[in-house]
Amino acid sequence: MKVRSGRRTRDIPALWYEPRKVVFIDQRLLPATFRLYEARSLRQLAFAIKEMVVRGAPAIGAAAAFGMALAQETGADLGKAAELIRGTRPTAYDLFYGVECMLKAASEGKDLREASRAYAEDIVGQCHRIGIHGARLIQSGNGVLTHCNAGALATIDWGTALAPIRVAHNAGKKLFVFVDETRPRLQGARLTSWELQNEGIPHAVIADNAAGHFMARHEVDLCIVGADRIAVSGDFANKIGTYEKAVLAKENGIPFYVAAPASTFDRRTRDGRGIPIEERSENEVHLVGRTRVTPRGAMAWNPAFDVTPARYVTAFMTEKGLLPPARIRDEL
Ligand code: MRU
Repeated sequence: MKVRSGRRTRDIPALWYEPRKVVFIDQRLLPATFRLYEARSLRQLAFAIKEMVVRGAPAIGAAAAFGMALAQETGADLGKAAELIRGTRPTAYDLFYGVECMLKAASEGKDLREASRAYAEDIVGQCHRIGIHGARLIQSGNGVLTHCNAGALATIDWGTALAPIRVAHNAGKKLFVFVDETRPRLQGARLTSWELQNEGIPHAVIADNAAGHFMARHEVDLCIVGADRIAVSGDFANKIGTYEKAVLAKENGIPFYVAAPASTFDRRTRDGRGIPIEERSENEVHLVGRTRVTPRGAMAWNPAFDVTPARYVTAFMTEKGLLPPARIRDEL
């Protein structure tokens, strides 16, 4: 992804593997500060996933794969490493898929440094293909609404929901992106806006509760979001607030697309009721930046994801093309 600092523009991935360490762009600090975080131990790697130094389903899947490689390289027990990584965040299926792929590779006697790098390259290739397929649905002049950050930071490069936007923009289509701010962690305002700015893609950050207003005024032509876990029924979990955007889109006759690679499809979970939803610290709701916005003693609840029923999904954008929810069962 393009990273601009001062007059310099660099092209770097969101995370990568180096001998005996995993390196991440520290997403907690963006957009104010660009800094790298190095995990040299499994404990530091687990911290990076849990505390969202790295976040976004495919990116934490790759972090999990790199973590398993670090475990092998440093002589740690792979079973224990898998357990530690699986315990970091419960919702994104990619995390479990990344661990599973590496356990399989290890059982075949493979070097996990190579296997995890190949895993990461596959994700990037799949995201690019999602972009190529998805961009066909974007016409010049379109307004596209997205939620959270489903860009390069969330996937190593290209993104899922942002990939079609990037491909369409690179092809010269004129488009405008409505970026939901995405409380409480502000992934839209902080990260999606930063990525779009680096790519030179016109956009505006909107308050989470403004989406209906722009939809009703016919300024949004399509919605594209990512996913953390997609069940066989087509119900899917994504960042909290996705569900209400999907309902609003249906009410306003706006197509609603979900972009995700194969690693996000969970063939063992039948429908949305089986998807575990992460509850995060109530402090994420109490605080905006460092300022407490709620009265002392007030309670806050902080589910990090919600489940959108399949009936709200126009189609999934995958590396193989468009997939209507009713066809998932045949493809898995
Ligand atoms: O809590 P986060 O920031 O990890 O949640 C991320 C999302 O919900 C993304 O929309 C999802 O992982 C898709 S990323 C390509």
